[in-house]
Amino acid sequence: RSCGDMKNLRVLVTAAGTREPIDPVRYVGNRSSGKMGYAIAQAAADRGAEVTLVSGPSVLNPPANVKTVQVETTQQMMDACLAAYNDMDIVIKAAAVADYRPHDVAEQKIKKKTDDALTVVMDKNPDILKALGERKEKQFLVGFAAETQNLIANAKEKICKKNLDMIVANDVTLQGAGFNSDTNIVKFLFPDGEVRELEQMTKAEVAEELLNTVLRLRKS
Ligand code: C5P
Repeated sequence: RSCGDMKNLRVLVTAAGTREPIDPVRYVGNRSSGKMGYAIAQAAADRGAEVTLVSGPSVLNPPANVKTVQVETTQQMMDACLAAYNDMDIVIKAAAVADYRPHDVAEQKIKKKTDDALTVVMDKNPDILKALGERKEKQFLVGFAAETQNLIANAKEKICKKNLDMIVANDVTLQGAGFNSDTNIVKFLFPDGEVRELEQMTKAEVAEELLNTVLRLRKS
């Protein structure tokens, strides 16, 4: 463990899932726990970085020595990321962002009706990472790709579309990987086509490996 090797680096991490309200008591959300992003934020802070964590709702305690910004919706996460972005050296987007939000948010709790079906019309949310990729200057930009199929192909496409320096891909259907698990099985993919497969390890270990890789690539 390389102590203090991230001193003087500013790191932005996003974590957990965003929630999109339907009415005052309901939302559209996803199964992200925030464990992966919190582990990265913690690891970077322990190595001396100045860390900002933008987090959707999570039951986890905010990591020590990290500036944590709590958000709920994708738009709020976007605003928080854009506000912090210019000063950042490294940006790691581990959040599971809601791609769509309900078009109308009811002011009052929606009551059960006699119809058998309820339709909720959804609008597309902005892609935060794509926006950051378009504005990229000095920042080393890392995305995540949680997939249930065509993992490698989907992840490669995202590197290109979102102008990333690296992507962490995981198949969320595997045992010992993905949502709420304390371990993860990931692959690191790079713009030159390299794919590095990691063994199953704890999310804390994935975080250290990820930061080691980012530091190595920033130097070269
Ligand atoms: O396209 P997809 O959602 O699979 O891409 C995953 C990556 O993009 C993650 O790093 C996620 O945090 C980010 N993302 C985002 N804004 C969105 C959707 C995804 O920043 N609206």
